[in-house]
Amino acid sequence: MAKKRTTKNKAVKQKHNGAKITEWQRESQKIVEQKEEEVNIEIPQQAEFFKTPIRFGNIPVDKLPLGCDEKEQYRKIYPKISLPFQVVEKVSFGHKDLEPNQLIFGDNLHVMRSLPSNSIDLVYIDPPFFSGRNYNVVFGDQNEVRSFTDIWEGGMPGYLTWLNARLLEMKRLLKPTGSIFVHCDWHASHYIKCELDKIFGYEKFLNEIIWGYSIGGKSKDKFGRKHDIILWYRKGTGHIFNPEGAKVPRKPNSHMKLLLDSEGRQYQQKTDAKTGKIYKYYIDAGKVAEDYWTDIETLNYEDVERIGYPTQKPEKLLKRIITTASNPGDSVADFFCGGGTTPSVAQKLGRKWIVSDISKIAVSVTRDRLLRAVLGENKKEVQQSLGKVPDIMIANWGVYEVLEIVKMNEETFRNFVISAYNGRLTSSEGKIHGYKQSVPIFVGSPSQEEPVTEKEVIDFAKHIVKSKGHHQGTMIAWGFTPGARNAAQQLEVQKAIAIDFVKIQLIPIESNEFKEHITSKHPEYKNLLKFILPPEVRISTKRTANLEYEFDVSESVSLNPRGRIINVQWDFSFNGERFISTPGYSFLGMKNNKPVLKINYKFASAGKKKIACKVQDDEGGEKVEIFEMNAK
Ligand SMILES: C[S@@+](CC[C@H](N)C(=O)[O-])C[C@H]1O[C@@H](n2cnc3c(N)ncnc32)[C@H](O)[C@@H]1O
Repeated sequence: MAKKRTTKNKAVKQKHNGAKITEWQRESQKIVEQKEEEVNIEIPQQAEFFKTPIRFGNIPVDKLPLGCDEKEQYRKIYPKISLPFQVVEKVSFGHKDLEPNQLIFGDNLHVMRSLPSNSIDLVYIDPPFFSGRNYNVVFGDQNEVRSFTDIWEGGMPGYLTWLNARLLEMKRLLKPTGSIFVHCDWHASHYIKCELDKIFGYEKFLNEIIWGYSIGGKSKDKFGRKHDIILWYRKGTGHIFNPEGAKVPRKPNSHMKLLLDSEGRQYQQKTDAKTGKIYKYYIDAGKVAEDYWTDIETLNYEDVERIGYPTQKPEKLLKRIITTASNPGDSVADFFCGGGTTPSVAQKLGRKWIVSDISKIAVSVTRDRLLRAVLGENKKEVQQSLGKVPDIMIANWGVYEVLEIVKMNEETFRNFVISAYNGRLTSSEGKIHGYKQSVPIFVGSPSQEEPVTEKEVIDFAKHIVKSKGHHQGTMIAWGFTPGARNAAQQLEVQKAIAIDFVKIQLIPIESNEFKEHITSKHPEYKNLLKFILPPEVRISTKRTANLEYEFDVSESVSLNPRGRIINVQWDFSFNGERFISTPGYSFLGMKNNKPVLKINYKFASAGKKKIACKVQDDEGGEKVEIFEMNAK
């Protein structure tokens, strides 16, 4: 749906394959209602701070962040697009009283723009590095491919502009006591540091953490590039630092003497030359880590926590960051969540979390990982050791599942229409369902069989004049009766009340008409607004040995234009309720540049098996197919 409509009778068109829209999940509203007025985040004035001798010229920190416009900030290059969230799943762990954690599928810039300011305690991001197009396009997931093609077109400045727009949003979302960790490597870290100095302020810099590891290939002509850089900034003048969260072993190899106490414990001792005071450091008590971390290795193929996500980071790394820079109950965000390391650790440490990713596979893999961590063997009982775990709300932004839209009820339909029309919702004002700027909006029935009537037009007109003194209103509906049109004309001529009609139309999802309609008015929507269908899943099974079978979904087809099947997840002990992939069958990766869609599985015992298979295409389409078989 388009963003700005001011003229009469403009059609709100929806890409749809002819199905009727009847229900919209109420929860999506909760997120949408949090939308705020546009706020410009203050960018620190640093010219004074950085007065350098003229002959050295200016160093970059006294300028605005790259790509930032003084007035519009990043809204000029990345226009604000108001689309609603579509809640596609709510995973319940039985604690309705707790605010749910959120996993969002969509472009993080737009996701963040819909979230409230000053609401997050800690942000960790591990954005794609500036290291070359193919390396970063992890899955060939179209959403990710598009995002990268755009970034790389502008080279390093393009990348930094893309990242800056997002960093500025993260700053807005952080609480005044909050802080951000930006994980990068040699490709762009120095450039990113300069931009962070401009966005957060040089004086808000806390640490450049060197995360050193050794796994991976070595270089023949230079030293091995074996460290990443994590830049830590705070938003305000104070921040959380729990040093106990970053304890490392103390190595007895420094200038201090190594001694043994009466119980045989090793310690080092130092005497202050001035005061004569003696300091004792027990080796087994460890020490707070410095800003170089060499005690955490990258994940190798055998690691139990490895889920196969190509850029997956170790939980130990996130554990150190989250424990050190947040407290239990705080909210942690990762807007490039990938395989879900941040929410997985945050959940284990009793933090609230909100995460997003532009890749459907990343979202699916993250969902699975989180569920597996919380649920017991039977996939029903919540693991007691984790305490009260909030529910998980999974929502889409900008990519809408048609089959969910058709289930909308009256209230959610209204809310969806108004949000998509870029209006503001009102809770209970009788005939007024929302406003666009100050113009009242009425939304007709979700049923296509019930057009707006003459009486509804007159009642709406009366209501807006009586309650608000307005002489202008907008009615959005599937259709309007001739009597309704007549009434609107009469009102305009006789009473100078202008009622605009905006007609919602259903047009086939695969037609170009929809895209043309939207993009002719709003080219910026081109890559963002999509309506997707689940793929058609075709499974073939072949017995290969005793209790062992080959499962193949390569004949499955994406029903989305240009869509390609790119991943399959398997749950070989489906409990009829929740899909949770069998370990090792969450993300099968690529072989010779092709997704692995054929796998082998050996059952532990013979008998009837209930199996669920979840297939994803590269346009964001996903479907779960459930079947039974007799394992022999
Ligand atoms: C380096 S990976 C993150 C890996 C993650 N830290 C982990 O441990 O699994 C970067 C992720 O950013 C996602 N991404 C790229 N552009 C994005 C965007 N505009 N919005 C949201 N996610 C994006 C990619 O899909 C990819 O999953």
